[in-house]
Formats: sequence, structure tokens, C-alpha cells
Amino acid sequence: MSADARRVALPAGFARRDGELCCDGFPVTRAEARVRAAWPDAEAFYLYSAAQIAERVRRFQAAFAPLAAHVAFALKANALPWLLARLARLGVGADVVSRGEMLLAEQAGFPLSGCVVNGNGKTRAELEWAVEKAPHSVNVDSAEELEALAARARDRAAAVRVALRVNPAIVAPGHPYVATGSAEAKFGLPPEAALAALERSAEFAPVRVDGIHLHVGSQMLDPRPLEQALDFALRFRARAQERGAAIRLINLGGGFGVDYARGRDEFPLEDYARRWAQRVAGMELEWVLEPGRWLVAPAAVLVARVLWVKRQGARRVVVIGAGMNDLLRPALYAARHRIECVAPRPGPPEPAMVVGPVCESADVFDAEALLPPLLPGDLLVLRDVGAYGSAMASNYNGRGRLPEVAVEGGALRAVRAPESPQDLARGACDREL
Ligand code: LLP
Repeated sequence: MSADARRVALPAGFARRDGELCCDGFPVTRAEARVRAAWPDAEAFYLYSAAQIAERVRRFQAAFAPLAAHVAFALKANALPWLLARLARLGVGADVVSRGEMLLAEQAGFPLSGCVVNGNGKTRAELEWAVEKAPHSVNVDSAEELEALAARARDRAAAVRVALRVNPAIVAPGHPYVATGSAEAKFGLPPEAALAALERSAEFAPVRVDGIHLHVGSQMLDPRPLEQALDFALRFRARAQERGAAIRLINLGGGFGVDYARGRDEFPLEDYARRWAQRVAGMELEWVLEPGRWLVAPAAVLVARVLWVKRQGARRVVVIGAGMNDLLRPALYAARHRIECVAPRPGPPEPAMVVGPVCESADVFDAEALLPPLLPGDLLVLRDVGAYGSAMASNYNGRGRLPEVAVEGGALRAVRAPESPQDLARGACDREL
């Protein structure tokens, strides 16, 4: 037995051994050395824990098993093909919003019968896909879209199952950019319009309007907005029944939040699921959920080297090798990801402003992190970046997208090569059209 194997097993995900951060027991410093050997110019990379992804998926599935809910992972949170293939194998479905996500879902091995199609601006090509591929269901955003989908389905004599996205006028707390259920939001049909469409549902055959879809917001730590959404859905169902329309499927979207501040107080999933199951016991309904963040956010860190440590008067400014182009959430939503040293140097923690190298004042990860002494070359991590991290990255400032690696079965795997400076010129042309 190797020395490593004799040591106490660490929990899945990110934990410290002898003070040093490990991913599924694999030291992050060792991962960094391997990344640097493969790509000498990489100053940062995304690092995933396969074990933690599997653990979270199983926990989510177990919580909602009493409801027999269909769980469709929202690909927008992270469409890394390696990750998608793992999720497909673990038996979750896919929530897709574009031709790109449709292709990625198919290539990753998600069964079409488990794909849920979303989006408030579906293109002709996306509607075609929905008609051709017989996905689990299509969440339709307007009466106009319903007509267009029905026309295409008729042309091809294809049955398509639909849930109408209803705007429930529920205001979710949190950043306004991720609240989607308020009456002012651009999404969905007002309830009256949805009821009217349901009453006329026979006209849309071979499209089957089977139910409704609600997604009130993202990053919710408090279950109340989701409970309000459930109340709304059940009341809506009763109103539809009074008008002779049956609701067989309710899709409550995603929105389950993680604890970016401390990593401990995430959305109370099991408790919420238990109360929900009790509430709807005996009702003949099919449930769908579209979690993104909850499943994968805590299962990755962004590892970045310290490039510079400079003093600005009394302030310590730490410039790292990742910027707002690599992780946009702090600049876009004022989100704060915990920042930690991989192998802390001895010495008292002191304030540090942790910033990236992008030429924008918004390129600040934390204006007042508390960190031990730091020198160039030291490694920091930003926690909980598995969702809406690399998925929202760009190559702004000519900074190619970062490499991504994963610990799986005790080994480190490269799961996405970085974008090189040469890649940035790809696709450029200068020809008459
Ligand atoms: N279903 C629909 C229709 C959605 O619009 C979304 C997310 C989800 C499911 C998944 O939501 P989740 O479980 O991940 O909360 N970029 C933002 C989050 C935007 C969420 C957009 N829609 C962020 O970084 O916080």
C-alpha cells in the first residue's frame, strides 16, 4: 500500500491534508505542476472533482425520488463535455436552450427522451430540433411560439409535448439579473393567457399541451419563493381544471442555491423535497426540475497563480493569473467567491484586494479578502466555480479561455485544452459576401 493510500481518506471534493488543499485527495500543488508541464503559459485553470459531482447528483436524485421527479441538468450552468458525459451516465436529463446545447447534450449521451427544451427566443432551427427529436418536453414561452411549434409539428406529423412557461409574478430575492419570475420579467405567458391557450389546446394537435413550467429565479437559499411557485402551480392547475383543461406535468425549474459565503448553508434540499412530497401526495402529476448550480457549483475551484503583490499606500493588492474574462460572476453580479491559499505560508492573515489582470476596474474578485502572506508564484483558489464559471468565460483582452482539468478515480485528467493566442485568430476572414 502506498504512503498516500495509508493516509486518512478525505471526503469527496475539496479538503485539506496537512494544511494543503486537495481535490478528492489529489494535492492541488501537484495538479498545478502537471498543468504547467502540459501548458507552460497557463497561469490559472479550472479543477473539478468527479467524486463530488457524483455525490451531489445522487443526493439530489435521492431527495426528489419520492416525487419520481425528472431531473434535467441546465446545461447553461456548465456544458463541458467531460462533465456532461458524467451527468448523462449518472442518469440525469438535460435542459437545453440552444442548438449548441442540443448538440452537446446529444454528443454527451443524454437520451433525447430526457431532454427538456427551454428558451424565450427559440429559433427556427431549435423548433425543428424539438419537432424532429421527440424530447421529453418543450417549455413554450408564448402563444405565438405555441402556434409556430404546432404548425411545424403538423407538417411533420410529429407529436410534441409542451409545458407552457407561466409568469407567476413571484419576486425572488437576490440579484435582479437572476430573478426571472416577476411580472416585469421577459419570460413566459401571463397566467390568463396560459389558461386561454390551455382551453384551446385541442387546436394545437399534434402538439400536446400537458402542463406548465415555472422558473422563478436562481441562487435561492430560502425555499419560500419555490414554495410560492408550487402553490401557484397547484392553484393554476385547479383553475385549469375548472375550465376543463388537464395539467399533467409541472416543471418547477431550477434555482437551488449554494452557500458561496461559507460553503455550509446551501438550499435545504431534503427538507424542501419532503414537504413538497407530503403536500402533493396522491395527486396524479409528473414533476420536472431543472437544477444547474446546485449540482455542480461546489465541485470545482479556479486555481490561479499570484502574479504580483503590490502596495498602494496601506493597501495590499494581489494580482492573480485569472481575470473577469475567466470568472465573470463577481464583476457582473457583485458575487463573492471564497478565496483561499492552496498551501498557506505561516503568518497572520491580512487584508488583500484580489484582482485580475483585465483592463477594467470591475476586474476585482474581492476588495477585502483576508489572506496570509503571499508571494508571486503562490497559488490561490476561488471556490464554488463549477456552475456559471467557465460557462460564462470569454477571451476578452486577448486572454484565451483557461484549461480545465478533473480528478477522477485518483488520476488527474485534462478535460479542456486552453485557447492559445493562435486560436484567437481562428475564424477571422476578410472576403466579400
Ligand atoms: N431553468 C431555467 C429556465 C433557467 O433559466 C435556469 C437558469 C435554470 C433552469 C437553472 O438555474 P439554477 O438551478 O442554476 O439556478 N449566470 C447566473 C445564473 C443565471 C441563471 C439563468 N437561468 C449566475 O452566475 O448566478
